[in-house]
Amino acid sequence: MEPLKWWQKTAVYQIYPRSFQDTTGSGEGDIQGITQHLDYLAKLGVGAVWLTPIYPSPMVDNGYDISDYTSIDGRYGTIEDMDTLIAEGKKRNIRVVMDLVYNHTSDQHAWFRESKASRTNAKADWYIWRDAKEDGSAPTNWRSIFGGPAWTWCEERQQYYLHTFAKEQPDLNWENPDVRQALYDAANFWIAKGVGGFRIDAIVYIKKPAVFTDGPVDGADGLSSIHKMIANTPGILDFLHEFRRKVFDGHDIFTVAEANGVTPADLPHWVGQDGAFSMLFEFSHVNLEFPEGEIWCRTYDWPLTKLKRALTDSQKATAENGWYPIFFENHDQIRSVSRYFPAGTDRKKAAKAMATVLFTLRGTPFVYEGEELGLANTAFPSLDDYNDISTHGQYQIALDEGYLPAEALRIVQAHSRDNARTPMQWSTAPQAGFTDGTPWLPVHGDYADWCVETEEKDPDSVLRYYRQLEKLRFQSDASPILLAGRYDELLAEDEEIYAFKRTLDGQATITLVNFTNKNVDYTAYLTQGAAVLLGNYDDPQPGRLRPAEAVVYRIGGESC
Ligand code: NOJ
Repeated sequence: MEPLKWWQKTAVYQIYPRSFQDTTGSGEGDIQGITQHLDYLAKLGVGAVWLTPIYPSPMVDNGYDISDYTSIDGRYGTIEDMDTLIAEGKKRNIRVVMDLVYNHTSDQHAWFRESKASRTNAKADWYIWRDAKEDGSAPTNWRSIFGGPAWTWCEERQQYYLHTFAKEQPDLNWENPDVRQALYDAANFWIAKGVGGFRIDAIVYIKKPAVFTDGPVDGADGLSSIHKMIANTPGILDFLHEFRRKVFDGHDIFTVAEANGVTPADLPHWVGQDGAFSMLFEFSHVNLEFPEGEIWCRTYDWPLTKLKRALTDSQKATAENGWYPIFFENHDQIRSVSRYFPAGTDRKKAAKAMATVLFTLRGTPFVYEGEELGLANTAFPSLDDYNDISTHGQYQIALDEGYLPAEALRIVQAHSRDNARTPMQWSTAPQAGFTDGTPWLPVHGDYADWCVETEEKDPDSVLRYYRQLEKLRFQSDASPILLAGRYDELLAEDEEIYAFKRTLDGQATITLVNFTNKNVDYTAYLTQGAAVLLGNYDDPQPGRLRPAEAVVYRIGGESC
């Protein structure tokens, strides 16, 4: 195996800048707020921070609707603030990773404004334009990912344009080489600034089918999921490999692409030595309750084996080829303590249990802001309190499917992306020390108990446990095993315990996690003669795990 690269030997911390730290009293986080907390991040031991988009944006989708790829939105600061952040980060061995949103722009981007003005302008085919059907209706029956039709009529051109997401996020036409070059130029601009890599948004949608056809209706709105119709269209790899050649090759950076549904057979073209990216975010382990896609009112109970299989499949898929970005939370997901454990489970234990898995699987751990504190879901009292565009779309879908307004509200409360977007909880001061003004999204009501200030003082806090895990993974005798060791699942059919072994050169670690809220026994021979490296209870007992207990053992020699 090749020596590991810097980004394989560190954790990445994801920052949602609007919710991280406000330094101006505007109620919205900013770049200087991030710079201010670099020492906190260094103490957590992370080697990179991924910032969700901070480019100029009308904020219809909180920055994922970009109107200029090479500058900074005034609400976050200036390009000089970015230069400072990058430089200060480097001093602490923390690289800054930018988000590239290249499937679509904002409808306020100069490119789209020009494109929509006529059918003959220089950017006329920079987006996906189509004539109406004979009866004037949209070219196909596709539903956008946020709900509602994926086509919007444009008066000026007398044509429809396609948008995989909101109507304010028109899809770019990647078939046009000028479009691709303009996107590559923008990414190279940030490489020249010294960024450490990129997270690449929604990349599976960039290639559209040659012929557009209606899909099977799969909702009460009479529409068909666009994801099923356009994701991973054959030919996409040609674009991705050109992207790699023209932007990523030759730089000491990493790339992690948001890519759902890449088949194991295709994986070597996507990641690894010959792949387009360093890593792929894949979602089967977070979409457990949505087997039919992301319609939030159709949820299903999931057995633990489903989570375990998803994780094991990803570990196996990247064992020889590529590398896995381990994550349980991001700005699109609910909080993991609210997802993976039964109601009533001790939250501190649950947060530490998830962290134990995060830091002992093979891959690069991605920690989402507040996850290191054990932050949990919230529930705003009314739909109007929700900012997230998809929450509003899903509320409408629930009503279309026949739910009453109160039920629809409960559904979106449980699944809204705003659950993870409430402001970072720094201190017991008003607004959790996030802002002196009025926060753009309410601060979670539990901040006095669950914030950095309180957790710094508590030797048993989730934050302190994260720091222990970071040391175990990156700076201990067990680090080589945890970094590079082979992954094997144990007790694969067990519905209560997730157990896996990491093995390297006759040495191994075993991670055991009880995903229930009761005592669970297991065959004690598994950990016979093993030494405890870390756990979320004192004195782990061989053969028994207490509610939400997580333990990492070390075994060596013959027991391996
Ligand atoms: C994925 C991003 O993570 C999400 O926040 C965004 O809404 C969509 N892509 C559209 O860009």
